[in-house]
Amino acid sequence: MKTVSNKTAVDIAHVYRGTFMHSTDHTAVEILEDRLLGVDTEGKIAFIGSGQEVDSLSQKWGFEALAVTQLGQYEFFMPGMVDTHIHASQYSYAGTALDLPLLQWLNTYTFPVEACYKDLEFARNVYTHVVKRTLRNGTTTACYFATIHTDASLLLGQIANDFGQRALVGKVCMDTNNFVPHYRETPDESHDETNRFISEMLKKKYPLVMPVVTPRFALSCSAALLGHLGEIAKNNHLHIQSHISETKEEVKLVKELFPDYDSYTDVYHKHNLLTDKTVMAHGCHLTDEELKLFREKGASVAHCPNSNISLCSGMLDARRVLNHKVKLGLGTDVAGGYSPSMLDAVRRTLDTSKALTIQDPQYQTLTFEEVFRLATLGGSQALSLDEHTGSFQAGKDFDALRVNTAIAGGPIDLINHGEGPKVLLEKFLNLGDDRNIAEVYVAGKRVVPFVETT
Ligand code: GUN
Ligand code: ZN
Repeated sequence: MKTVSNKTAVDIAHVYRGTFMHSTDHTAVEILEDRLLGVDTEGKIAFIGSGQEVDSLSQKWGFEALAVTQLGQYEFFMPGMVDTHIHASQYSYAGTALDLPLLQWLNTYTFPVEACYKDLEFARNVYTHVVKRTLRNGTTTACYFATIHTDASLLLGQIANDFGQRALVGKVCMDTNNFVPHYRETPDESHDETNRFISEMLKKKYPLVMPVVTPRFALSCSAALLGHLGEIAKNNHLHIQSHISETKEEVKLVKELFPDYDSYTDVYHKHNLLTDKTVMAHGCHLTDEELKLFREKGASVAHCPNSNISLCSGMLDARRVLNHKVKLGLGTDVAGGYSPSMLDAVRRTLDTSKALTIQDPQYQTLTFEEVFRLATLGGSQALSLDEHTGSFQAGKDFDALRVNTAIAGGPIDLINHGEGPKVLLEKFLNLGDDRNIAEVYVAGKRVVPFVETT
C-alpha cells in the first residue's frame, strides 16, 4: 500500500474493516464490530481501532483510507485455527482403517504405512496434500508428527514453509517395535538422526517452521532413548510432543514396562520430557495427580476427540483438564481421527462433552464459545506460540480466516438475514466448511486461495 504521511516507525501493508471475533483469557468470544485492523509489512498486527476513526488512523499510520478492504455484512475475521496434534504421514489413509483398538491399529495399519516414507517421492506427494488440505480448512498452525525418516521429515518442514503454514515438525523417535521390526531405529540412530534433523532444520532459518522433539510414546521408546531426547530438548530449548494415556491398555502396559515410576506422566517427567514447551496428545485416562504435575511443569494436553471415539480409546474430560488449569488445545490426530479439519475437531469436542453430560446430567458441558477458544487461543497457548498467534492483538502475527457465511452454493442458509455476529460464528462452527473460508492469512501473507505456480 502506498504510504501517505507515515508518522510511525512501521509501514502498513494492509488494512481491513469489518467484524473481528476472537478469544481473550477473560472472554471466550469477544466480538469487535466495525473495527479497522492494520497489518504491517512484517505481517504483524500494527493496530486495531474503530472503523469510525478511519481518517485519523490513516493519518497516524500513513495509509490511504480508500485502500481499506471492507468486509461484507455476513463476513468476519477469526484467528486461524491451531491443530495441536496431527500425523502428516498418516494422511494417506485418513478416513479408513478405524476398526481396531489403538495398539492393533498401530501394528496393522500405521507402522507399515509409515515405513513407506523412506521413499521421498511418496513423502512429497502425501505431505503436499496434507499441508494444502489443512490450510484450506483453516489450520494456520499445525503440530505435525512425520515418521522416523529424517530426510522425509525435513521435506515436510520445507513443504509447510513453501505453502506458508506455521508448523512444528517432529521426526518420530522409536527404538522399540516388536510387531513391525523393520519400522524402528537403534537407540543410537534415533539420537543421532534427531540431532541431524534439528540442526538441518534450524540451518534453513524458516520463519514459521520449527523442529519438535518427538518420542512416539513410552511403549515405543527405551528409557535410554527417552533420556537422550530429554537432554536434546533441554540443551536446544525445543518443543516436545508425544502421546500419553490414550487407552487403558496402554496405561497398563506402561505400568508394567516402567514399574519404578509413580505414573505414566512421571515416566516423561523423570526424563526431562515434561516442560512448558511439551504437548501430550490425548490424556484420556490421566489421574488428578498427573494433571497436577502437568500444571506444575506448564505442559499441555492436545484433545483429539475424533480419534478417541474412532479408535474407542476413551473420552477426555476436558472440563477437568481446564479446572486443573492445564493448557488445552484441540487436535485432529489424523489418521486415528478421520478428519483433517479443525472444524470437525470443534464439533467432536462438543459431542464428547455432551456424551459426558448424558452420563452425568450435573456435568458442566463445554459451550461452543469455549470450544472456539480451544481451537484458536487455547491451541496457541498449548504450543507456547501465543506470543505470535491465536488472537487479534497488536504485536501478534496476523494469522486469520476471512469467513463468509453467506457464500453462494455453500453449506449455510441464512434464513433470517438479521443474524448477529455471534450467530454467524456459531453457524460457521457447526455447519460451515472450507467453502466458507474465503481467505487464509499466516503472518500477514494470504496463503489461501493458493497461487497456482504452473
Ligand atoms: N500412540 C503412539 N503412536 C500413535 C499414533 O500414531 N496415533 C495415535 N492415535 N496414538 C499413538
Ligand atoms: Zn497421535
